[in-house]
Amino acid sequence: MKAQIKNNSHQERFQPFNIVVFGGDGDLSIRKILPAIFHRDLDGQLNIAYNVIAITRKDPDLKAFQARLIPFLEVSDHHKYSRNEIEKFLNKLVLIKAESPSPEAYTELKAFLEKFPERQNIYYYSTPSSAFGPITQTLKTCGLVNKSSKVVLEKPLGHSLASSNAINAEITLAFEEHQIYRIDHYLGKETVQNLMVLRFANNLFERAWNAENIESVQITVAESLGVEKRASYYDQSGALLDMIQNHLLQLLCLVAMEPPVALEADEVRNEKLKVLKALRPLTKKTIEQDTVKGQYTRGISNGVQVNSYLEDIEKYESKTETFVAIKTYVDNWRWKGVPFMLRTGKRMIKRYSEIVINFREVKHNIFPSKEKLNNNKLIIRLQPEERIELIQMTKIPGPGGYRYKPIALKLDYNDSFKERFPEAYERLIVDVIRGNQTLFMRQDELQAAWTWIESVTSSWKSSGMPNVLYEAGTWGPGDDILNENESWITKTWRE
Ligand code: BG6
Repeated sequence: MKAQIKNNSHQERFQPFNIVVFGGDGDLSIRKILPAIFHRDLDGQLNIAYNVIAITRKDPDLKAFQARLIPFLEVSDHHKYSRNEIEKFLNKLVLIKAESPSPEAYTELKAFLEKFPERQNIYYYSTPSSAFGPITQTLKTCGLVNKSSKVVLEKPLGHSLASSNAINAEITLAFEEHQIYRIDHYLGKETVQNLMVLRFANNLFERAWNAENIESVQITVAESLGVEKRASYYDQSGALLDMIQNHLLQLLCLVAMEPPVALEADEVRNEKLKVLKALRPLTKKTIEQDTVKGQYTRGISNGVQVNSYLEDIEKYESKTETFVAIKTYVDNWRWKGVPFMLRTGKRMIKRYSEIVINFREVKHNIFPSKEKLNNNKLIIRLQPEERIELIQMTKIPGPGGYRYKPIALKLDYNDSFKERFPEAYERLIVDVIRGNQTLFMRQDELQAAWTWIESVTSSWKSSGMPNVLYEAGTWGPGDDILNENESWITKTWRE
């Protein structure tokens, strides 16, 4: 074990718990949720009594379940764990079948949980959100929700403002807002949290963090993968609901928000809410110029011929977008007139996520050559390699007058920090256990995000804007397809 994370200031708030994962044999549970609990335990953070209960809809086959899970427990960030450590965790794992939510189906779960009246029960809903209401209702009927219970909700929470509100109404029949954790795993990423430190622990940046000094902000999450095995989910969501509604809007909030009074859940969430409320809605008039949506066709991805989106999902009429670019504005004093460009797509040339802060040009060029002075840029690379770069003009050494070029000042996370980086889910699950809601969305935030998203969906609908097609394994919709007004989409983001 490389890193021993001991956060004693929070340790005293840890209480023994049972975590019940609905959709416990699903991909997310096997790949992320269960390994996250295991790795936090090994790092010494869960030094308390607990059990993990995975709810499955089919008869549980313990051997087959473990065979799927173990590879994700064994290796994390190149570190390999021993069989002994894994066995200890597997002993805490209980599989319970509950085909659909009903008091009869929850008999075994109830019997198990009632053996530990002193533990807090954490219910993790890793199922489609249509099941959230029925599960909640059944837990309540079975008397399994009390003051210390918590519920974790996976995205997507509905597919519109109305459906998201309806889900919330069902959840709040049993849980109060302070017991609800709406998870967005982007907020658990180390580099995303570093954004807060970068902004609020460095006087240098915060001074320049406004429309007077910043020309534009770009937020890009490009993926080289396609829709994998999630065709039916993805085809109902598309890139806008799958990525922009949550991950990219949350990143935008962290870039644009005012400094909170303190790093406390409601202080941070109040500031993020103000940003979401200040987002300029898209309209029928602006939608064509300020958004692009695309769908991938066949192409070569990482050297391999891959199918088109329509072939991947085997539904040849689908109009679902797999790429979105949106230019928007945060209409407040700090950000007046500064475009925020959000871009995300599947089957792009490579996987990378980054935030680029483009500073304005210097006011006057004093150098005799009058050669162009490139604007400063702060590049925050979130993945796959985590680093921060400040692009600045530098003199080229030697005689011949002032010649200069842009050079990057680099902070490479991996060089500076040798510890294993905890996965996003590790941080977030520990926060649930210790009751810290800072990195989770509050209901009013979610509503504000949906309200803005609906300005996009309704304008797309009323304008009948079509998808543009782009080849898999490329940078997405290219100059050949886009018109002049749309050049911001391609000109500003390719490395
Ligand atoms: C999920 C989306 O929330 O985030 C996926 O549903 C996407 O479609 C994934 O692939 C990206 O997460 P990450 O952490 O790999 O960037």
